[in-house]
Amino acid sequence: MDRIARFLQQRADQGLLRTLKPVDSRGAGKLHRGGRELIDFSSNDYLGLAHHPHLKFATQEAIEEWGVSSCASRLLSGDMKIHHTLEEKVASLSGKERALVFSSGYQANVGIISALVGRGDAVFSDKLNHASIVDGVGLSGAKCFRFRHNDLDHLETLLKKHSHEFKARLIVTETVFSMEGDLCPLERLVALKDEYRALLMVDEAHATGIYGPGGAGLVAGLGLTERVELIMGTFSKALGSFGAYVAGSAQIVDLLINTCRSFIYSTALPPAIAAANLAALEIVTREPERGRVLRENAAWFRAALIDHGHEVRGSSQIVPLVVGEAERAVAASSALAEQGFWVLPIRPPTVPAGESRLRFSLTYDHSRQQLSKLIENIDKALHVSVC
Ligand SMILES: Cc1ncc(COP(=O)(O)O)c(C=O)c1O
Repeated sequence: MDRIARFLQQRADQGLLRTLKPVDSRGAGKLHRGGRELIDFSSNDYLGLAHHPHLKFATQEAIEEWGVSSCASRLLSGDMKIHHTLEEKVASLSGKERALVFSSGYQANVGIISALVGRGDAVFSDKLNHASIVDGVGLSGAKCFRFRHNDLDHLETLLKKHSHEFKARLIVTETVFSMEGDLCPLERLVALKDEYRALLMVDEAHATGIYGPGGAGLVAGLGLTERVELIMGTFSKALGSFGAYVAGSAQIVDLLINTCRSFIYSTALPPAIAAANLAALEIVTREPERGRVLRENAAWFRAALIDHGHEVRGSSQIVPLVVGEAERAVAASSALAEQGFWVLPIRPPTVPAGESRLRFSLTYDHSRQQLSKLIENIDKALHVSVC
């Protein structure tokens, strides 16, 4: 207990102790906190679907029919027709033979990677990959080579030097990176993975619903579906719901059903959530303007910030504005909150020292008028925060 108390005290002394801060309510690009309404730039509900009446209705209907829980894991008695309907839909959208649904993106990545590779194999992983990928690689027992973020020359150097030492090689990357807001150079990546006879797994968590035909993701958008062995994505971000999927060959899906521990030893996705996921996929196909408007607004916002002299990264709906020191990011975030904008400061160790940033997560619900007002306030907040 002393050790725990000491650890917590140390964290608090360093200003790094994290605590939970519940919101009063959230939706339509806004959140309520402490009795105040704030425009929300911290949500992953990129397409504004979390409160969509079609998702709510589908969920309520499914609860009436099947109740709240799936009551068991898939391989026992928790397997329901709706899971299969959802998997068929995802497979067809992704252009792959089969798909498998998971209860969360974290579970998917941890389980898939540790099922695919093990001792004697190698994983080549982008340095900025999500913690769930890092943990999956750690659990697998495979040798891990981390390449500099989006630096395919570095990846090639590592492949050239080490790939022949291993039985199997897996390359893993996100397609849209959540802290940089940038895209993976997929065309060259697929060429490298072919040359070095590796498997390629991509995490489309921040791309599903926004990029590609029907929101299938960046891989489909670039016409590379055939060349990527595993396409993982989540229902928990742009699709406004919960859970995750992987799409691939029938063989890969059968392997996962038989060996992926986070799939086997966990209760199946609740049927009402599967219904919400199906409803979300339907809306994305029916209303492609949601993704288009979001992408256009993000490009407009990014260009306007650059015009105002700010250092902005990436090219997606996630817009990171680099401000330098952590204190400056925290002060700017507080100043923006005072003005009614909820924007998270991202600090080390999440990003390198000196690269603290404000991370704007844009959604379909944000209007150009709100974004213009935000830019005015960013200018003021950053001016105020350096004084
Ligand atoms: C790239 C990436 N992969 C996976 C996950 C995990 O997804 P989930 O929240 O559904 O567990 C996240 C969540 O932030 C993510 O950003």
